[in-house]
Amino acid sequence: MSEQIIPKHIAIIMDGNGRWAKKRLLPRTAGHKVGLDTFVNTVDTCSSMGIEYLTVYAFSAENWNRSEDEVSALMELMSKGITKYEPEMNRLNIRLRLVGDIDRFAPKYRDALRGVESRLDNNSGMTLCICLSYGGRQELVYAVNKLLKEGKTEITDKDISASLYTSDVPDPDLIIRTSGEYRISNFLLWQSAYSEYYFTDVLWPDFDKNELLKAIDSYSKRERRFGR
Ligand code: FPP
Repeated sequence: MSEQIIPKHIAIIMDGNGRWAKKRLLPRTAGHKVGLDTFVNTVDTCSSMGIEYLTVYAFSAENWNRSEDEVSALMELMSKGITKYEPEMNRLNIRLRLVGDIDRFAPKYRDALRGVESRLDNNSGMTLCICLSYGGRQELVYAVNKLLKEGKTEITDKDISASLYTSDVPDPDLIIRTSGEYRISNFLLWQSAYSEYYFTDVLWPDFDKNELLKAIDSYSKRERRFGR
């Protein structure tokens, strides 16, 4: 058997919580609750496998258009979930990075999340990036405006990479999307230029360790040529 190639950076579009709940005649928030458990299990697994970076798409810039009730339930669930998970993340030596326009969050949620991020800042294990109020185009506009403010009149691709929210994070090797949708949905547009994609019909709440290992196995079998 050939040796497994473990990706250095996995990014995940966690999709299908609503459909998971609908299939069970449950409110959408019930799907998000189980989705949170799946997220925690995925972080545990990636950390124990020695994955260096894990990025998850938790709340997109477009998700602000959902009902007010769902948005506030999601904020509450995510900030409580991350706060509750902090000791375990610390035990696993995980460093947390919040990526996106977090200032749009209500101050109580923003401060709770920023607090966890700063307390885990000195950890040196896996870096967990959580994309919140994130959009790839918004990030590119932010990067270009930053460069303009610095007085640049001509830019290189390195300048853009260095001005993104994720400037200190390497590009993802593998991007997973659950729930049978074949779209990028404004996720890591610049960073995904050479990423391998893995799509599965499995809904996010059902995406267990075995499903994650299948995705890594599929990645491991691909030959990456970077256009060469
Ligand atoms: C997609 O399902 C999922 C989200 C909108 C993100 C919510 C993710 C979690 C609650 C888990 C992660 C938690 C943290 C703390 C990072 P959907 O509602 O779009 O499902 P649908 O497409 O079936 O309607």
